[in-house]
Amino acid sequence: MTQFSPVAPARAHDFSLSEAHEGLASLGAWRDYPRVQQPTWPDEDARARVFSQLRGAPPLVFAGEVDVLRSKLAAAATGDAFLLQGGDCAETFADSTADRIRNKIRTILQMSAVLTYGASVPVVKMGRMAGQFAKPRSADEETRDGLTLPTYRGDAVNDFGFTEAARVPDPERLLRMYNTSASTLNLLRAFTGGGFADLRQVHAWNRGFTAGPGYDRYEELAAQIDKAIRFMDAIGADFDELTVVDFYSSHEALLLDYEEALARVDSRSGEIYGCSGHFLWIGERTRQLDGAHVDFMAKLRNPIGVKLGPNASVDDALRLLDRLDPEREPGRLTFITRMGASRIRESLPALVEGVRDAGAQVTWVTDPMHGNTITSSNGYKTRRFEDILDEVVGFFEVHQAAGTVPGGLHMELTGDDVTEVLGGSGHIDEAGLERRYETLVDPRLNHQQSLELAFLVAEMLSRR
Ligand code: PEP
Ligand code: CO
Repeated sequence: MTQFSPVAPARAHDFSLSEAHEGLASLGAWRDYPRVQQPTWPDEDARARVFSQLRGAPPLVFAGEVDVLRSKLAAAATGDAFLLQGGDCAETFADSTADRIRNKIRTILQMSAVLTYGASVPVVKMGRMAGQFAKPRSADEETRDGLTLPTYRGDAVNDFGFTEAARVPDPERLLRMYNTSASTLNLLRAFTGGGFADLRQVHAWNRGFTAGPGYDRYEELAAQIDKAIRFMDAIGADFDELTVVDFYSSHEALLLDYEEALARVDSRSGEIYGCSGHFLWIGERTRQLDGAHVDFMAKLRNPIGVKLGPNASVDDALRLLDRLDPEREPGRLTFITRMGASRIRESLPALVEGVRDAGAQVTWVTDPMHGNTITSSNGYKTRRFEDILDEVVGFFEVHQAAGTVPGGLHMELTGDDVTEVLGGSGHIDEAGLERRYETLVDPRLNHQQSLELAFLVAEMLSRR
């Protein structure tokens, strides 16, 4: 039953700042490459000042932890583990409160308990948290009532408020991103390092959920899980794995100024780690082979994700593999596919087969969110729960047909009872979106929808 080693202790000699700067010189080369989705900081001196402050700040994550995560993602690639990555589309400074962070962690831990039962393998738990403050945008400008202003790029860059002053990029926000990430991580480490993550408490999970409509469908599975947990409790099972879980942080490595400033040289290996989060990914909009993001990420030792949309070709995937994982190292590269429910069954097979036939092993993860965004008739950016689920089903089908491994889920979710995604057993309809629509960017599954999805995926995993 044991699956997780306790939280990996950070090696004391992980990063020595004095040695660091020399080894980091090569990282700045991204500035010579074409770059997209970067803010134009209005004041270069201010940017440089912030950059050097961040360079001198302690790392947020440690080499030892990052290395353990890489090995867990390698296990997910072979079906010996399953990744659950979830959190906001965009974290905000205002919502980085203890309550909201706790609710998110709890949701991910509850989903993870359900998925573990279905998959009978360890679930690698990862938040889109403690660093997810910057957003790629499809338009540089936004127009409201005839007024056109620069688009909101996440709290790390500018303010959501629709005024000229609010939308000016401010590098001081990078410091706030660092500090908010640090306090979020502090809470994450506390919650997952002790009683809060106790699996025997987690069975309180179905209390909130059972009250909801449409629960009956999951009652049997929930009862089985409860019984398994009670059994362990009754026999006095009392090992660390019940009370301590590894929980990793991740975000899109979008703002290269920030990522470069947070990179550190591991004094033991001499290698460069991105220390802003354990797992960093390159988005669909920034994965150009000759672009700044790929050049930068190729130099980091972290496990790296790349989003692949419906227009990604096999050639794109293989060239990304060559650039980002030339050694074909297990756990190094994760492809996060986000095709859309209507396209996954036609677009994913070629990619999966092409990578398989090239003899490469990557971790395949589905993001069933970003290909399924629609606008409701009352003007909300939303998604249908049934489309999200259908993309997950398609993902499993395609991998089964290709003989490859569906290795994980990448979700936009929150632990609160927001109404941003249509459907689910709570039957949120278009009018219902008005009740509690809070996201600043993309719609998130609420607590109940997240658990419902976990139950449905657990059923699929049990047949994997
Ligand atoms: C995201 O993950 O929030 C995102 C913008 O995704 P993508 O790069 O897949 O569009
Ligand atoms: Co999003």
